[in-house]
Amino acid sequence: MLNQPLTLPNGHVLKNRICKAAMTEGLADKNDNATERHITLYKTWAEGGAALLISGNIMVDKRYLERSGNVVAEDESGLAQLSAWARAVDNAGSQLWAQISHPGRQCPRLANLHPIAPSEVQLNMVGNFGRPRAASEAEIQNVIRRFARTAAIVKKAGFHGVQIHAAHGYLISQFLSPLTNLRDDQWGGPLHNRARLLLEIIRAVRAEVGVAFPIAVKLNSADFQKGGFSAADCQQVVGWLNTAGVDLLEISGGTYEQLVFMQPDEMRASTQKREAYFLEYAREIKKIARMPVMVTGGFRSLAGMQAALEAGDTDMLGIARPFCLIPDLANQLMAGQLSTLPHNENQLVLGKGYFGPASKSKSLQALNNQSQAGWYYHQIELLAAGLSPRIAYSPRRALFSHLNKDFMRAMRRKFAKRNAA
Ligand SMILES: Cc1cc2nc3c(=O)[nH]c(=O)nc-3n(C[C@H](O)[C@H](O)[C@H](O)COP(=O)(O)O)c2cc1C
Repeated sequence: MLNQPLTLPNGHVLKNRICKAAMTEGLADKNDNATERHITLYKTWAEGGAALLISGNIMVDKRYLERSGNVVAEDESGLAQLSAWARAVDNAGSQLWAQISHPGRQCPRLANLHPIAPSEVQLNMVGNFGRPRAASEAEIQNVIRRFARTAAIVKKAGFHGVQIHAAHGYLISQFLSPLTNLRDDQWGGPLHNRARLLLEIIRAVRAEVGVAFPIAVKLNSADFQKGGFSAADCQQVVGWLNTAGVDLLEISGGTYEQLVFMQPDEMRASTQKREAYFLEYAREIKKIARMPVMVTGGFRSLAGMQAALEAGDTDMLGIARPFCLIPDLANQLMAGQLSTLPHNENQLVLGKGYFGPASKSKSLQALNNQSQAGWYYHQIELLAAGLSPRIAYSPRRALFSHLNKDFMRAMRRKFAKRNAA
């Protein structure tokens, strides 16, 4: 079942049902270009047998990063490096799709003090994010053109598809949510206005890349915040996506303020038992979606994956964190050599015995999330250097090393920009 090919609506074939979901790499050079390390990393993942590899956030605008170390593709200055990255997967026969993204208010201060967002609603989190500005009409039009341009660039570079990131509280997801979108123009208010940015971006991207090039969308099943983008909103948006020319719909959930996939302890018991966090939402979405659906988040057992495919709750299995520890997990699962994937996220809670229970305060939660992210970033860096993962790496060290590296990268980038000016 896992090794059964999947044919997308445009005739494109994925050789099996396993996808390495997007994970921001943080491996770009000081000019925001892809590097040798991307090539080593994706070659390793491609040889591991997954049909589809989705890159981490590739940004559409240099001014607004998700994190320093992001690759940016706003013009063709980094085309050669992007092409080398895209070619890294060729021998293994995997597909590499570029996730294209704009962070909106989830842009760290080190990259921009006042990023654009639908409205001036600041993240309810410790210090790292500035107060956003409400984007003007011209800026929204510019964002749409930028997504289309970035899609054209990655296509030219040889990527096999694109994924528009509309989940996890980034810019498009901010437009979708009534908590962050307080506008009263054509981009805010009723859901069809809040979804306009996503639909316009898909339309513009399709016009650039043509009908045969796969376009995926990553969408939240819900934001899991009171008054935010709800499961019912998601189902309505999926109805609109049906006629928008989307080839694959990835279902996830949460935002920086409620990063549900990083806090498995807080999931409902029924969800924990089911292992894949968003599967019950996906079941409802599958009733509406006319394109193939991929559920990402929490898949950790062969039995759970097979059951989800057999029940028809998902067509593809999106897996992220375990790929940092077992890069060839797809081959191993399909050969029957592996039945359980590592769930180190459960052991990575920094709070236990040190900062106090993780779930008690927003600030501690944020630190735990940073620690966990840092731990996985470290494993990604090891793989990208051609080394083996280090499970014994300390989560505390991961936190401090990650914050320090982020700062240094941001400074190097600032100096590079200043010297170029
Ligand atoms: C270190 C790390 C980096 C991530 N970066 C991205 C990203 O760039 N884009 C994205 O859509 N999701 C990103 N995610 C979320 C994953 O794609 C995935 O949705 C989440 O980890 C749940 O899947 P899993 O339980 O299999 O890890 C990231 C997750 C982690 C742990």
